[in-house]
Amino acid sequence: MGSTYLLLKITHIFAATLFLGNLVVTGYWKAAALRTGDLRVAATSQRLARRADALFSGLGALILSGTGAVNATLHFDYHGFWLFHGGLAFLGMIFLWCALLIPVERKLSRMAAAFPVEGEIPADYFRWSRVSSGLRAIVVFMALCMLYLMVYKPHASPL
Ligand code: HEM
Repeated sequence: MGSTYLLLKITHIFAATLFLGNLVVTGYWKAAALRTGDLRVAATSQRLARRADALFSGLGALILSGTGAVNATLHFDYHGFWLFHGGLAFLGMIFLWCALLIPVERKLSRMAAAFPVEGEIPADYFRWSRVSSGLRAIVVFMALCMLYLMVYKPHASPL
């Protein structure tokens, strides 16, 4: 395996850092901003969180899947347990993200845009924020499972 393999791999690991790092850190500061109870801080953090998710995790996911798929095709066997299940888990994670997390974040953004009119953060917003944090935690957990599969490369289920 030559320089193409290493170039793909280093780009892949860079994308994994971007993807996972942003999901965790954005979830943290969004929750911290809401805890201040300040309308403007909460609304701004919600707007920025969506932007950061699209820019860093969205871009990270695109590069992760692209470099992973090319490296797998050129240098690995897709039937291997770790790669097959890693790819499958990635598709499941992207589905969860697009079908549930993005719509919930959109709903939160719509609600946050109405804060100045309502003059307070409605209780519903706190509830939906908890849903968003829960979904984010599941996506992070799935990404950590993939990290395990990629690094340990098990040939069979460890469970
Ligand atoms: C959140 C998702 C992912 C994370 C966190 C992740 C992480 C990693 C890491 C840390 C490595 C380096 C492992 C090592 O050098 O031993 C790696 C390698 C690799 N990954 Fe991923 N990956 C993800 C998704 C994917 C996907 C979707 C594919 C395939 C479509 C893929 C295919 C590969 C391949 C082929 C390698 C090279 C293995 C090697 O060099 O031994 N990865 N991944």
